[in-house]
Amino acid sequence: MKPIPEIRVTDGKMQLFVDGKVFHARAGELHNSSSSTSLYMEQKVWPALRPLNLNCVVLPIAWETIEPEQGKFDFTLVDELIEQGKREGMRYVILWFGLWKNGTSTYIPGWVKHDQETYFMVRDCFQKPILTVSPLCQAAVEADANAFSHLMAHIAEVDTERVIITMQIENEIGVLGAERDFSPQAQAVFNAEMPPEAAAFHGVTGPWSVLGEKAPEQFMVWAYAKAIEKITAAGKAQYPIPMYVNAWLEQHPDRPGLYPSGGPVAKQLAPWRAYAPSVDFFGPDIYVSVFRQTVDEYATDGNPLFIPEVRNSPDCVPFFLYSVGRHDAICFSPFGIDDLYSGQTELDEGLLAQLNIQASAFRSDPRTWQMLSSVYRQVGDMEELIEEAHKEGRIHAFLEENDLGCMIPLKDCDVRVNYHVNSGYMGNRPLPDTDPRAGGFIIELGEMEYLIIGTDAFLEFYPKCGEGGFLAGERIEEGLWKDGEGFMTVRVLNGDEGGHGNCRINLSAFPTQRHIKLYLCK
Ligand code: DGJ
Repeated sequence: MKPIPEIRVTDGKMQLFVDGKVFHARAGELHNSSSSTSLYMEQKVWPALRPLNLNCVVLPIAWETIEPEQGKFDFTLVDELIEQGKREGMRYVILWFGLWKNGTSTYIPGWVKHDQETYFMVRDCFQKPILTVSPLCQAAVEADANAFSHLMAHIAEVDTERVIITMQIENEIGVLGAERDFSPQAQAVFNAEMPPEAAAFHGVTGPWSVLGEKAPEQFMVWAYAKAIEKITAAGKAQYPIPMYVNAWLEQHPDRPGLYPSGGPVAKQLAPWRAYAPSVDFFGPDIYVSVFRQTVDEYATDGNPLFIPEVRNSPDCVPFFLYSVGRHDAICFSPFGIDDLYSGQTELDEGLLAQLNIQASAFRSDPRTWQMLSSVYRQVGDMEELIEEAHKEGRIHAFLEENDLGCMIPLKDCDVRVNYHVNSGYMGNRPLPDTDPRAGGFIIELGEMEYLIIGTDAFLEFYPKCGEGGFLAGERIEEGLWKDGEGFMTVRVLNGDEGGHGNCRINLSAFPTQRHIKLYLCK
């Protein structure tokens, strides 16, 4: 029997283990409706995924599908999806679309939708209903937890090959359209004494209003986190694989209610952890352009970097390299992966505006799939090298974010990474109509010996300050790293391509690798 997927923590670092080995998901998330039938998966989705070199697909399973009538479960679709995943040699991260999806309750079964007295909705301050079942509605939370525990029990029984490696609990939760739930039931809880866990977290007692302006969002964080804790714990009692919660991020500038109030945005991770200890980690859905800042905020205090959704424009390629090189990301997953290959996006501008997502996040570009597929394979082939380099602090990442470049101190020398777009070095910008960026990482292989992978940058190497002299290339190679075999040289660069002794490493917009050995000239 294969071991079940699990999270292990070594020296404060969380890693995902699948089949007893560290696993990094080079993934993509399907559109919301793509896994609603196995026929659509067969005809439209799998052919579009096969060229992409994914090792994992992120896909939803909805409450309405598995419990169409109260207490009557149907796992036909779940079984078919698992069979397909097995056949394709693919792993799954499953999104549990239960009570909440993008702040609303659209995936609940019809019998829940129709019984609004039992399963009451969030209301705004004018008592207008919002299409979201209240997280304070215990009957709803219990019904969701019951369905989720049946799902997990079923997966435990049938998924002996461990196709399913992680569960996302709900999707982008929180109240949209009001800063908190003002329903009479919620109001009564808001007016009462804060529960002990909230009082302990905030270090004050009294009703929620003692928190002043922060009260509405803090109240919703507590309400959602307690609901999620109940659902997650119920699922883990049946099958304890890793489980996480994802976040619709704050925009810039923003206020709760414009982004879902109560969700695990970066500044709310501490209370979320306090109230929902069964949740293993939290993941950002990244459509904002400030990628570096966002991932750096999430990958702190022991939270690993797990990106369930990221825009699928060409800049997702340098985003991926930065996530791997800087944070050893557990999962990277562009959204709408099923239409990357065709280059035809299903998401119209009206919908994206409603979701607060820049249209450019889904600008279709036929080159994206080629770059992503290539970089997924390249990084897949250097997993062991990356793993060792992270352990020994020999890996250094860079990513352009409205800046000119960066200086990276290495053990034997320093490297200046220049980002094309701002440096005036416009020699190689093949993606003028999209959002190309410099991004990548450098691994120190030995003395003055480096492996570089990246996009859209040029790198210059300098001796350590005060050492004197300059660095030149002993050998500069273009090619591919393969664990177990080392660097496979495709070309030896010199002359124009090697910077004429200046050892300028030029990386084009298409992700490529260099293996270089330098020497000091004095
Ligand atoms: C974020 C959501 O989590 C996804 O399910 C999907 O609705 C995308 N937004 C749409 O771009």
